[in-house]
Amino acid sequence: MSSADRFRVLLPQQEVLSRIGEMAAHIVRDDPDEPPMLVAVVEGARTFAARLRCFLPGCPIVHEVKASSYGTGTVSSGEVSIGSGSDLRVSGCRVLLIEDIVDTGRTIEALRRRFLGAGARSCRVATLLTKPSRRVVDVPIDYVGFSIPDEFVIGFGMDHAGHYRELPDIVVYEPEAAAESAAG
Ligand code: IMP
Repeated sequence: MSSADRFRVLLPQQEVLSRIGEMAAHIVRDDPDEPPMLVAVVEGARTFAARLRCFLPGCPIVHEVKASSYGTGTVSSGEVSIGSGSDLRVSGCRVLLIEDIVDTGRTIEALRRRFLGAGARSCRVATLLTKPSRRVVDVPIDYVGFSIPDEFVIGFGMDHAGHYRELPDIVVYEPEAAAESAAG
């Protein structure tokens, strides 16, 4: 993190919040009689999941599963590590996985396999953002907030190496070195 890092607002907070309301309406419409078991992929999806839950009657709890494929860089390592929460009791449940970004798709695919393997009746996916041009694994996504280009974003709960989660808007991030070389 440096004072020369550059930021460009991609999605202002108000637009994000209003889209989350629309996503929640779709989720309720698809399953009016059986609220899903909410499982947020943390840390990144915690803010999104908290906002989504407010619009979902009958979903008082957001469970959490820890997964990461990024380490401290801005490019996926390709290896998904699943941490605490992977042993949630999902047998017979209709799980709704809540993700901040689907990039290559590896993280969400690994989690779907884990939960379906543990006996979940279904495992749907709600992601705030998707980067379709980056997809490696063809994972089904049921609810998408926004499709974005292949740029690294932060804010609204998403970080770069642990920084910038608290930014209210979703912002494109260019670290100092990358910004300088782009400027020539
Ligand atoms: P995937 O396994 O390649 O789909 O990576 C998904 C995970 O990578 C998400 O849970 C995010 O934590 C992280 N990620 C992907 N793109 C970004 C980004 O632009 N900003 C912050 N995190 C990202």
